[in-house]
Amino acid sequence: MTLDAAPDLAELIAWYAEMGVTEALDETPHNHFTEPQPAQSRAAQRPASLKAVPSPAAARPNAAAGTAPDEATLSARALAREARTLDELKEALSRFEGCALKATAKNLVFCDGNPEGRVMMVGEAPGADEDRIGLPFVGRSGQLLDRMLAAIGLNRKEHVYIANLLPWRPPGNRTPTPQEVAICLPFIQRQIELADPDILVCIGGPSAQGLLGLSGILASRGKWMDYETGTRRIRAVATLHPAYLLRQPLQKRLAWRDLRALKAALEGSATP
Ligand code: URA
Repeated sequence: MTLDAAPDLAELIAWYAEMGVTEALDETPHNHFTEPQPAQSRAAQRPASLKAVPSPAAARPNAAAGTAPDEATLSARALAREARTLDELKEALSRFEGCALKATAKNLVFCDGNPEGRVMMVGEAPGADEDRIGLPFVGRSGQLLDRMLAAIGLNRKEHVYIANLLPWRPPGNRTPTPQEVAICLPFIQRQIELADPDILVCIGGPSAQGLLGLSGILASRGKWMDYETGTRRIRAVATLHPAYLLRQPLQKRLAWRDLRALKAALEGSATP
């Protein structure tokens, strides 16, 4: 490799990482379009270290690719229902093999903040930073979220409990499929029930749709509604995702409106 090639290579690797290609399987590149690949000799051509490794779907009999989603969803519901505490729920999730995202994620991203906080915020899914560290909203979006909370006198250490609709990162930060959402939904619903916040804030479209049944986040944000946790009815609202606000800074004024309403609701000075 020449030095001139290095910046291109760095860009290529960054692009691969962005697309979710984070593991090197072999040291030698293969052009699979030109190499003849007789079906029965493919296994023999794999590097020795990979020969015994089954595909993620095969390794996890319940994984989405391998079984009907209903089965995984039913199993998720049963496991979530059995969990009596947030710790038990996290443990149940770490044992759950029904979502194929687990196979590509580095970490389970369960929660951050204070489970006793009056506000629970639920985002979409972990990104690369969250996946690496194992905590939600620690990347650029998370930093903006922290600044937004600080603007209304809240912080995640004391006042806010944070989780995601999906606890595993979709490869390349792609939007979760409806099937992945359906499979993981019982866990986040149970997490909300066990955390038992006074107010639920759904961050971004997928969270608003998955938990509140809202579609079109720009039209539905800021509208207060009831959310049935399973044991009680709490107030809930959807707001814009900080990742969107980083791309569309002018829309921060809408998020600011939602934050002011959240503050007023917490202070009991408004009945949203
Ligand atoms: N975006 C999310 O929705 N959740 C995270 O944890 C990080 C980014």
